[in-house]
Amino acid sequence: MTHPNQDNKHLGGEVFNEDCLSFLARYDGPALDLVYLDPPYFLERQFSLEAASSRVSFQGDWEHQQIESYCEKIAASTGGDSLVRYLSFLYPRLAMIRKRMSERGSLFLHIGQREGPYVRMLLDNIFGLKHWRSTITWQRSHPHNNLTRALGNISDFIYYYTASDDFTFNLLHTPHDEVYLSNCFSNSDERGQYALAPIIQERSRKGHHYEYNGVTPPHGWRLRRETLEAYDKEGRVHWGKNRAYKKVYLHEAKGAALQNIWTDIYNITRTEVDRRKYPTQKPEKLLSRIVELSSKPGDLVYDPFCGSGTTLVSAKQLGRRVLGTDISAAAVEITTDRLGAITQAKAGSLF
Ligand SMILES: C[S@@+](CC[C@H](N)C(=O)[O-])C[C@H]1O[C@@H](n2cnc3c(N)ncnc32)[C@H](O)[C@@H]1O
Repeated sequence: MTHPNQDNKHLGGEVFNEDCLSFLARYDGPALDLVYLDPPYFLERQFSLEAASSRVSFQGDWEHQQIESYCEKIAASTGGDSLVRYLSFLYPRLAMIRKRMSERGSLFLHIGQREGPYVRMLLDNIFGLKHWRSTITWQRSHPHNNLTRALGNISDFIYYYTASDDFTFNLLHTPHDEVYLSNCFSNSDERGQYALAPIIQERSRKGHHYEYNGVTPPHGWRLRRETLEAYDKEGRVHWGKNRAYKKVYLHEAKGAALQNIWTDIYNITRTEVDRRKYPTQKPEKLLSRIVELSSKPGDLVYDPFCGSGTTLVSAKQLGRRVLGTDISAAAVEITTDRLGAITQAKAGSLF
């Protein structure tokens, strides 16, 4: 590969001190399998101070006319164009990221609630609504009480898109909560605590109508006779009055499949696990979950706005190859230090 950055901005093999747009424009390395980005949030002052020339001007083969008219509508409805400047900063970067992604790749964009829905329109435009997978709501702080005429804003959105319909996805499970455990795993036998899963059909299915142990359910059984017999022989069927259930043992249960509201990961300020090195640093646990969910060992994970490098650290620890950019030299230095501290044994290498 042609090294994407030959000049003295290059402070580490995997991290580059550069605007992600110019970096990606000439990047010709391996396609990006997973992109997580946590861009600067929309702060009116910051974006209204930018030069007037940053007003929307989209080049290239994307649907720029549509996006221009979208931005004009936003300017009209929000009574100013600083949000438009913000969106015009993000749009070409998002479009360039999509160009460099692998066809099995995924993107997670982390954003505040106020600007989030506007940014989501950009993502729909670039990826297509059909490639939107989820909107994750991450609870980033404890409830707070110093509120005046608004509800506590304690969560962020993370928009999850894929490049195509054929993408890497590893379903994850989280531990069941206490209430669910005490309500559902209330039975026990010599094997341990168990919950009851239905084995009687609600709608008829061919080959599942038979009498077993004196019970003939009107719509049949969920299991074929041989399977039901085998479960029963092993003591894995719970017989109630005219009902039967499969026993789901607590020690064999995987937990609950991961849903789109994440309240179980504490922000950096609330935990001693990660030490804060950067003002907007995100917790490693958040990034590890995203990496595990949507990539496999050896995949290339890229963070265009890498800050203190949390994405790269989590990904490298999980055996992924990593790549990051940040416009701040201080951020790149912190990221490089953090990556350097990870044992080489765990790491994949890009170059
Ligand atoms: C919210 S922070 C990212 C924090 C990061 N997720 C972490 O865990 O530390 C956003 C970062 O984007 C960087 N940034 C802003 N504009 C950029 C650009 N055009 N290209 C690359 N990085 C940029 C900032 O320097 C900042 O470090």
